[in-house]
Amino acid sequence: MLDIGFAKSALPKNGALVLLVEEGEKPTADLLAEVDHATGGAVSRALEAAEFKGKPGTSCTILAPGAGLSRVVAIGIGKLEALTQRTAEEAGGHAVPALSRDTHASIAAAALPDALAAAIAMGAALRSYRFDRYRTKEKAEDKPKLAKLHVLAAHPVRAKEAWTPLQTTFDGVCITRDLVSEPPNVLNPAEMAERIKALESLGLKVEVFGPKEMAKLGFGALLGVAQGSANEPRMVVMHWHGASSSGKGKKAQRPQPIAFVGKGVTFDSGGISIKPAAGMEDMKWDMAGAGTVVGLMAALAGRQAKVDAVGLVGLVENMPSGTAQRPGDVVKTASGQTVEIINTDAEGRMVLADVLHYCLEKYDPKFMVDLATLTGSIIVALGHEYAGLFSNDDGLSAQLTAAAEETGERVWRMPLADAYDRQLKSDIADMKHVTGRPGSAITAAQFIQRFVGGRTWAHLDIAGMAWSTKDSACVPKGATAFGVRLLDRLVASHYEEA
Ligand code: BES
Ligand code: MN
Ligand code: ZN
Repeated sequence: MLDIGFAKSALPKNGALVLLVEEGEKPTADLLAEVDHATGGAVSRALEAAEFKGKPGTSCTILAPGAGLSRVVAIGIGKLEALTQRTAEEAGGHAVPALSRDTHASIAAAALPDALAAAIAMGAALRSYRFDRYRTKEKAEDKPKLAKLHVLAAHPVRAKEAWTPLQTTFDGVCITRDLVSEPPNVLNPAEMAERIKALESLGLKVEVFGPKEMAKLGFGALLGVAQGSANEPRMVVMHWHGASSSGKGKKAQRPQPIAFVGKGVTFDSGGISIKPAAGMEDMKWDMAGAGTVVGLMAALAGRQAKVDAVGLVGLVENMPSGTAQRPGDVVKTASGQTVEIINTDAEGRMVLADVLHYCLEKYDPKFMVDLATLTGSIIVALGHEYAGLFSNDDGLSAQLTAAAEETGERVWRMPLADAYDRQLKSDIADMKHVTGRPGSAITAAQFIQRFVGGRTWAHLDIAGMAWSTKDSACVPKGATAFGVRLLDRLVASHYEEA
C-alpha cells in the first residue's frame, strides 16, 4: 500500500519527481527552475521537444535527467486557477502509472492551495489501488514498486490536515474495492457479514441477522431468492452514531438517522431463470451496492462524521437448485405485500424490498438511499458514464447530482411515473416484480418504490458503474467503489452538524 507523506518543497536528491505543469505556451511548474538548474536545462529542453503544453490529461516522462533523479514526470494540470478538487485528484491519479518502476516519488505541489495538494495525494492513492491477494506467481519486477509518495507542499502540516479526512474516505474506497474484487467462492453472504462485523474496530456497531431472524421478520422476498443456495443469507445493519445528541436522551428525542441500503448478491447466476454462460463470472460483483454501503459507513466512522447513519445490506446468493424459487411462485414480503415471481433473475429488487421495509419501520430515517447493480437496462440507457438516479424527492436528487459533479461519480436522473408503475399489475398477487423489456430499469425502480412507504428516497442503479474494464485517472480497472466518494460528499455537504 502506498505510504503518503507531506514535506517542505525542495528538490529531492533521488527517486522520481512529478512536476505539475500549468497550461500555456511556456510551461511553468513548481520546482521546474530548480530541476533545470540541477540538470543543465534537461527538463525544459525535453518538454519543449515534446511540445508539452500542460493540457489536463497529458503527461511527459523524462528518464534519468541527471541530479540523481530516476525520472521527471510532467503532468498537465490546465490553468492553475481553474483547478478543482476533482481535477487535482485526476492529476494525482495520472502520475501513478508513470511511477511504477520507482520505489519513491515526490510531487511538487507548493504552488497549489493546501486542499488541492491533499487532492493530488488522494488521486494518487485512488489510482494505486491493486487487488493481488490471489496472484502467487507474479514476479517482483512485474509488480508496481511505488511504496512512498511525498507531496511537497507550501504548508506541509496544513496539507496533511486536509489529507486526513480524505485518507479515511480512501480507506473506505479500499474496503469496498476489496469486497467487490473477492471471488464468489470466498465471499459468500456469511463471509461478507463476518468482514463487516470486523469493522466494529472503527467504532461502528454491527448487527448480523441469519435466516431464522429474517424469517421472523417476514422476509419472504429475500429468503425466496436465497432458498436455492447452499450458502445461507444474511442481513447486516451497521450503525454510526456521530451526532452530538446521539446516545443521550430517549430514543424519541434522537435525531432521525440517514440510511443507506445495498443490494448484496454475492453471486447472481440468475437462479432457475439462469443467465447465459458468457460473462456470468461478472456476477461476483452483484454485491457492489452492499460493498459500497460498507465502505461508506467505514469512511463515516473513520473520520468521526458528525451524523447518525445506518447502513443495511441484504446478502444472498442467487442459485438454481432443487430448492430454488420458481417462476410462478408467490412470496409475501416483510411489508405484507405479495409478489408474483416472473423471472428469478430479477432478484435484487426482492432483496431490497424487504431490507428497505425493515429500514423504514425500524429507523424512521430522514431519507433512504439504496444502491444496486440492478438492471442491464440502465447500462443500455447510460453506458458506463453515469449511474441511474431515481427519486421521489427533488431536493435529495439535487444534492446527489451536485455531489456527483464534485466527485466525478456521476448520476443522471431518470423518471418515475404511474404509467410505469401500472405495468407491475399481477393477475394473482399484489404485483409482479418484472415487466417487459422497455424501460425496465424504470419499472425496477417503480417496484422498489412500492416498499419505501412514501419516505424520502433515492435509488442508484450502479450496474454500469461498479466495475470498470479500463483504467481511468483515479480508478484502475476492476472494482470502482462507485458511490463511496459520492455519498461521503453528500453527507459532508448536507447532513453533518457544523
Ligand atoms: N445483477 C443483474 C443486473 C446486471 C446485469 C448487473 C449486468 C450488471 C451487469 C440483475 O439481477 C438482473 O439479472 N437483472 C435483469 C432483470 C430482468 C430479468 C428483468 C436484467 O437487467 O436483465
Ligand atoms: Mn439477476
Ligand atoms: Zn442481480
